[in-house]
Amino acid sequence: MTTNRTFTMIKPDAVENGHIGGILDKITAAGFKIVAMKYTQLSKRDAEAFYAVHKERPFFADLVTFMTRGPIVSAILEKENAVEDFRALIGATNPAEAAEGTIRKMFATSIGENAVHGSDSDENAAIEGSFHFSGREIY
Ligand code: PPS
Repeated sequence: MTTNRTFTMIKPDAVENGHIGGILDKITAAGFKIVAMKYTQLSKRDAEAFYAVHKERPFFADLVTFMTRGPIVSAILEKENAVEDFRALIGATNPAEAAEGTIRKMFATSIGENAVHGSDSDENAAIEGSFHFSGREIY
């Protein structure tokens, strides 16, 4: 994966609340091209592995329970400066602190249920994209 790509998930809260279409609209309107996408559900093992870097944090068990409770949409997005621009588009982790017009401000309800994930570095974007997609699933 090149450095103009990032990885995202539309999390179970946003899927449950009917926000897949609204979030994808915001993503494509911001100039991101979808190069891979799937509707899926994480197992406990998947979520523990995906979030392993956070395993010592007090919210880890809650995060795994939340991320496995229903389907998600995972995707790889392409755009110049993708990681940084996507983090700006989604807004702060805590929606109460997210800027107006950001995806989390519009669609998230709490710090634990914050609608979307966005990779925090080019290196993690590549790791996370490969975790969810095989080479032939990426356009
Ligand atoms: S970030 O975006 O990685 O800098 O944010 P961080 O604070 O390090 O949080 C890492 C992921 O943990 C989620 N999170 C929480 N889940 C449940 N409860 C609480 N209190 C909580 N705080 C943070 C946060 O949404 C991040 O998930 P991802 O999927 O990476 O956005």
